[in-house]
Amino acid sequence: MADKVRIGMIGCGGMAGAHRDGYRVLWEHEYHDFEIIAACDVDVNRAQNMANSVAEFQGSQPNVYTDVEEMLDKEPALDAVDICTLHSMHHVVAVPSLKAGKHVTIEKPLGITMRACHQILNAAKENDRLLQVAENYRRSPNERATQWAIRQGKIGELRILFWIDVGESLGPWGWRDDKFASGGGWAMDGGVHFTDLMRFHLGCEAEEVYAISKAYHPYRYHKPDTLEDPIEVTNEDTVIAVIKFEHGITAQWTIARMCPGGGFGGRALYGSKGRMSLSGGFKSRDEEMNMDQLREAYLASLSDAERERWFPRGITNTVATELHEFIEAVLGRGKLEIDGNEGMKDVALCFAAYESGATGQAVKMSDIEACKIEVYQGEINDALGIT
Ligand SMILES: NC(=O)c1ccc[n+]([C@@H]2O[C@H](COP(=O)([O-])OP(=O)(O)OC[C@H]3O[C@@H](n4cnc5c(N)ncnc54)[C@H](O)[C@@H]3O)[C@@H](O)[C@H]2O)c1
Repeated sequence: MADKVRIGMIGCGGMAGAHRDGYRVLWEHEYHDFEIIAACDVDVNRAQNMANSVAEFQGSQPNVYTDVEEMLDKEPALDAVDICTLHSMHHVVAVPSLKAGKHVTIEKPLGITMRACHQILNAAKENDRLLQVAENYRRSPNERATQWAIRQGKIGELRILFWIDVGESLGPWGWRDDKFASGGGWAMDGGVHFTDLMRFHLGCEAEEVYAISKAYHPYRYHKPDTLEDPIEVTNEDTVIAVIKFEHGITAQWTIARMCPGGGFGGRALYGSKGRMSLSGGFKSRDEEMNMDQLREAYLASLSDAERERWFPRGITNTVATELHEFIEAVLGRGKLEIDGNEGMKDVALCFAAYESGATGQAVKMSDIEACKIEVYQGEINDALGIT
């Protein structure tokens, strides 16, 4: 087994900066079982800046590339790649990386469509490589504490989850406004974090989804305050979904981003004994804890091994802990919590909402996961040549 994992970063934009900071946190905690040896971005300046900023803490300078295939070809020592590109490029760069024998950690969502997800999953399986989806939200101490309390039965048997997020968002958002680059709007980009948290907290899978999905206002504005200089966008701004989970649990999930005049929202899980306010503590018929008390109780309940598993070296930065887990798994010293299959299930729930919106019918998760319903995704697959 190698003494350290040699990593290539692919896509050196905004989130890659958070990954770089995560690696830096690990480094500063004396965790040196990795080396970033390459940085790749189609924009050479971004790749170069990434390489320079990595060298500042790591000491050695990563090589710079603008083409993934060239990087894979010229860097045989690479063990793994860390993918932070826009969604339409996930399968385009992940599949050749896996075929070249590299382990992969990839930002959410796993793929831009379910077919793209399956291409990545198949490449990982066929080449026997690790595939982690870098889903970080559930890794925060608050989310872990909330999940722990739910499992402890603090609110009783789980019944109804309300997840309401209503507001207005008028500013342009680059590739995130383009369905063929992003796969969907906020119900995909942020939504895949939320579906992961739903599955994590409820501890079971969705079975069926009915949703309305629309673009009530398909414009954004370079000057949002005065609604001047509009651009047309191709993504939805509204998803209102009812989700049937296993064990009779119902979720009502609303994302509405074009509601002028003031938003509202909240995330609450009701059980037979009380209410968990995600992640703000709970109140039941016989007990109440705010988030600080709950987090303290959870942390106090952890064994040393559990503490090291979830918060290695006391680190709570969610990106640092996910990268630590990935490196440990590549070194054969640990398991991935969110592997490709988990990441696929997270994004399938987003696509279920879009497909239900497109067909006007309730859809079964098994049909979404098996690519049997692709009314919404079909034009993305066609445009991007995803088969
Ligand atoms: N976990 C989180 O909280 C979180 C937050 C933000 C973004 N993300 C995810 O991170 C990913 C990247 O988002 P971002 O905000 O950093 O986007 P970004 O636009 O800032 O960065 C994407 C980078 O990828 C590069 N790129 C595009 N095609 C490429 C290719 N073929 N090869 C190499 N590089 C290529 C672009 O030039 C750009 O620098 C997305 O999957 C997004 O959903 C996650």
